[in-house]
Amino acid sequence: MSEHGHHPRLDRHARYRGEYPIVVEGLVNRFGEHTIHEGLDLKVRRGEIIGVVGGSGTGKSVLMRSIIGLQIPDEGHIDVFGRSITDGEPDEVLGVRNRWGVLFQGGALFSTLTVGENVEVPLKQFYPEIEPDLLKEIARYKVMLTGLPEDAIDKYPSELSGGMKKRAGLARALAIDPELLFLDEPTAGLDPIGAAAFDRLTRELKETLGLTVFLITHDLDTLYEICDRVAVLADRKVIAVGTIPELLKTDHPWIDEYFNGPRGRAAQAAQNRAGAAGPGTGKALDKPAQGGA
Ligand SMILES: Nc1ncnc2c1ncn2[C@@H]1O[C@H](COP(=O)(O)OP(=O)(O)OP(=O)(O)O)[C@@H](O)[C@H]1O
Ligand SMILES: [Mg+2]
Repeated sequence: MSEHGHHPRLDRHARYRGEYPIVVEGLVNRFGEHTIHEGLDLKVRRGEIIGVVGGSGTGKSVLMRSIIGLQIPDEGHIDVFGRSITDGEPDEVLGVRNRWGVLFQGGALFSTLTVGENVEVPLKQFYPEIEPDLLKEIARYKVMLTGLPEDAIDKYPSELSGGMKKRAGLARALAIDPELLFLDEPTAGLDPIGAAAFDRLTRELKETLGLTVFLITHDLDTLYEICDRVAVLADRKVIAVGTIPELLKTDHPWIDEYFNGPRGRAAQAAQNRAGAAGPGTGKALDKPAQGGA
């Protein structure tokens, strides 16, 4: 049972209607003497793209791995779709695992499988009853959804460019029609044009498929262009959550340096030039701040 109790019965077809698909409370993660998280709290709102930032090694990937149950925390509670990941029954955790998709840092595809076969992996895992022809058809649809040409389906990862690999990884993450998408540094290593295209794709897919997106990134342009809110990891916690204008008011030295350093300024200027209708400025601004700060 989750700490928040009374969740509805498992039903893989029912979409989550609550306000917070992810709730992290009092998270503690240690590796030996090394404490990565110490009392970390975070609530992710349904339907938002939340950007997660923080210096290298602050534990962004470990946080993501904790949320999807790959890292057992030392302390704390994590609920996803109102069900406990940390102290739930195994069945309960299984019931939510088929409702998220993950693009891991580095985006590793299986190198001995074609793109299409890569996309089929999670489908076979969660829906073993699906016939091979239908599997192929679903995989083809997912690959096209991410903007890859149709002939990419039969290519091996080594035959793809970096940007195409990211899209193939995204197609695999979307294979099982998730409600929740985890992206760990999706634009790392892409050229600026490729990164901007991937950002647009993420935003479009979020809108059309009604996703909630947990997006770890170092990319300031991504934060300005597509994130509704940003969570900042520092001092082993989430020290602030909000829109970028809200974060700029917090006066925290790391946040100030991050957004007002030369790169932050450049991203801000680019956003202003673009007409400033993006989620980082106008639209999200009238939403109230939440958590952190
Ligand atoms: N399985 C593990 N065993 C031991 N230490 C680990 C393990 N996984 C992560 N760490 C350590 O935890 C810390 C946080 O790692 P994490 O990968 O979450 O950082 P990050 O914020 O994602 O960094 P980056 O921006 O470089 O990806 C690092 O010091 C890392 O070495
Ligand atoms: Mg990482």
